[in-house]
Amino acid sequence: MKKRIFSGIQPSGNLHIGNYLGAIQNWVKLQKEYDSIFCVVDMHAITVPQEPETLRRRTIEIAKIYLAAGIDPKKCSIFIQSHICEHAELGWILNTITKIPELEKMTQFKDKSAKDSRESASAGLFDYPVLMAADIVLYDTQLVPVGKDQKQHIELARTLAQRFNHKFGETFVIPEAYTKKESENIMGLDDPTKKMSKSAKSEYNYIALNDDAETVRKKIKKAVTDSGSEVVYQEDKPALKNLINIYSLLADKTPKEVEKLFAGKKYSDFKTELAEVIIKFLAPFQKKIGELSDEKVLAIMEDGAKKVRPLAKKKLEEVKKKIGFIV
Ligand code: AMP
Ligand code: TRP
Repeated sequence: MKKRIFSGIQPSGNLHIGNYLGAIQNWVKLQKEYDSIFCVVDMHAITVPQEPETLRRRTIEIAKIYLAAGIDPKKCSIFIQSHICEHAELGWILNTITKIPELEKMTQFKDKSAKDSRESASAGLFDYPVLMAADIVLYDTQLVPVGKDQKQHIELARTLAQRFNHKFGETFVIPEAYTKKESENIMGLDDPTKKMSKSAKSEYNYIALNDDAETVRKKIKKAVTDSGSEVVYQEDKPALKNLINIYSLLADKTPKEVEKLFAGKKYSDFKTELAEVIIKFLAPFQKKIGELSDEKVLAIMEDGAKKVRPLAKKKLEEVKKKIGFIV
C-alpha cells in the first residue's frame, strides 16, 4: 500500500515563492509516490478576521495555485476543509485531550497574537494547532510536507495521536513532518535573518506568485546581499545562500552547481539571471491560473471531497465508538 501524505494552505493573503518552494513544490514531486490529499484550509483562515467575499475568492485562488503548480486531481484528492465536517468534529474531540500549556507554547500563536494585542486574539487562533492535528490524523497520514514553521504543530499532532491511542487503543497513525533542508525556510529578500512572509511590512520581502516580470526584476535587484563579491554558498553568507537556494530549487540544480555556474562572475550577474529563472517559472504558472475557470476548479474540489469523505466518516466513527459516544 502507498504511504499517505496530507497538507494544506490557508486562503489568507497572497502566496509567495517561499510557500511554493517550502510546500507545494514538494507536494508535486511526492504525488507520484504517495497517496496524496491536499486541502484548502478555510477553517484555519477564519481564526483571524476575514472579509467573506475575499475569503471565497482566495479559497478558489489557492485551489487554482495547486492545480497550476502541477497537482494532478487524477492522482490526488484536493478539497476544501469546510466541506468535510469531520475535521471540526474530530478537532473538538482532540481538544478534550489537549493541555492548555501545550497550546500556550506554540510560537505561531505567540507571534500572531502578539501582533494585535493578546486580548483581541480569538479562541480559534489559540486552538488552531488542534484543528490542524485533526486534519492530519483523520486520514491516517504518515507524512506531512510543510515548511519549517509548521514542525511544532506537527509535533503536537504526534503527541495527541499518541495520547489518544494510549487512552483509547490503537486508532491513529503517528504522522511525521516532511521538509527539505534547502526549501524548509526561505528567507526574506530584505532580511535573510527572518523567513519570507506574506505579512511582512515591505513588499520587497517576498516574490508573490502573482508578481509580474518587472516587479520580480525590481525586487531581486533590491534584495540584500552579503559583503564580498563572489557567488558562494556558505553559512556565513546567509543572504546569498538564500538566493542560491531559490535559484537551485527553481532551476533544478544543486547549490554547488549554481556556485560553479557563477564562478568568477559578479553578484549583479547572478541576480540578473536569478530574476530570469524566477520569471521563467512564474510566467507559465500564471498563464495556467488564468486559464482555469472558477466552475472547473470548484467541480474538482467537490470531486476531491467525495473521494475523502468516506475515509473521514469511517475514522470519526471509530473514534466516537472508542470514546463512548453512541453511534
Ligand atoms: P502559510 O502561508 O503559513 O499558510 O504557509 C503555507 C505553507 O508554506 C506551510 O507549509 C508553510 O510552512 C510554508 N511556508 C511559509 N513560509 C515559508 C518560507 N518562508 N519558507 C518555506 N516554507 C514556507
Ligand atoms: N497550519 C498550516 C499553515 O499555516 C496549514 C495547515 C492546516 C496544514 N492544516 C494542515 C498543513 C494540515 C499541513 C497539514 O501553513
